[in-house]
Amino acid sequence: MTGILDGRVAVVTGAGRGIGRATAELLAAHGARVVVGDLDEAALKETVEALGGSGVAHAGDLTDPAVPAALVSRAIDEYGRLDIVVNNAGYTADGIFHKMTDEQLDAMLDIHLKAPFRLLRAAAPVLREAAKKDLAEGREVFRKVVNVTSIAGTMGNVGQANYSSAKSALIGLTKTLAKEWGPLLINVNAVAFGFVETRLTAVTSTVEHAGRSIQLGIPSKVREQAASRIPLGRGATPAEAAGGIFLLCTPWSNFVHGQVVTIAGGQAEGMSA
Ligand SMILES: NC(=O)c1ccc[n+]([C@@H]2O[C@H](COP(=O)([O-])OP(=O)(O)OC[C@H]3O[C@@H](n4cnc5c(N)ncnc54)[C@H](O)[C@@H]3O)[C@@H](O)[C@H]2O)c1
Repeated sequence: MTGILDGRVAVVTGAGRGIGRATAELLAAHGARVVVGDLDEAALKETVEALGGSGVAHAGDLTDPAVPAALVSRAIDEYGRLDIVVNNAGYTADGIFHKMTDEQLDAMLDIHLKAPFRLLRAAAPVLREAAKKDLAEGREVFRKVVNVTSIAGTMGNVGQANYSSAKSALIGLTKTLAKEWGPLLINVNAVAFGFVETRLTAVTSTVEHAGRSIQLGIPSKVREQAASRIPLGRGATPAEAAGGIFLLCTPWSNFVHGQVVTIAGGQAEGMSA
């Protein structure tokens, strides 16, 4: 069987569960080989099993400055190339603004801005040199970067001043790289998700995260109200969310460049960029 992504190699972060795992599965189902990263080694193992021989795991905390570059090296060591980068790993550390700590702010900047920044900086020589070679030899080959942001980053969200600031910063990085890398045919786009049914939007729970206990999820009352604000009437499944990322990894999106594609079932609250 031939796939639209045959021969392509992708790195997907935060692929142990949720949207990242669904994205890795979709990329692999269409022919790509995928290096999946996550700090949760056990979850990552399940993802690799689901990829059926088209992926390898690289466990590590992406906020450790060495880990993003290690993911790029893993792609080269394992598969000899890198064509697609999906910066998806993330979590939330919510709180009302006037009580928010420096630690809550730094945690969100570390995972949602600095980790993608470092991963793309490490990928830059690989993507750029291959692109220059293709252009010099007369081939038009598009490479793909997809950064996962949120409608909290484009519209703001109560209780998420830290998260929405970091997700908004990621949009700045996306647009700048689109300008710097466009001439090399490296598409750089972002997806802004609304409500997606994952651990992040489940009823509030405490989970182990990089050796610490953190609270994820949202109060059940907010969950109940969420659907009423979405014209499609419900949150997205991880597979539906992954579909948007996948589109931006295929040739069908070659002329979509420097965009923030909102994937929110039509949810819009009047404060869009
Ligand atoms: N679920 C939603 O409604 C929603 C909405 C908007 C944006 N997003 C974004 O989508 C992305 C994926 O979230 P999800 O909903 O699938 O959540 P999830 O919790 O199901 O999956 C996120 C994965 O990222 C991993 N991760 C977190 N911090 C990491 C780190 N420091 N190093 C390595 N891996 C790390 C987690 O271990 C987890 O497996 C996140 O960036 C999130 O902010 C989600």
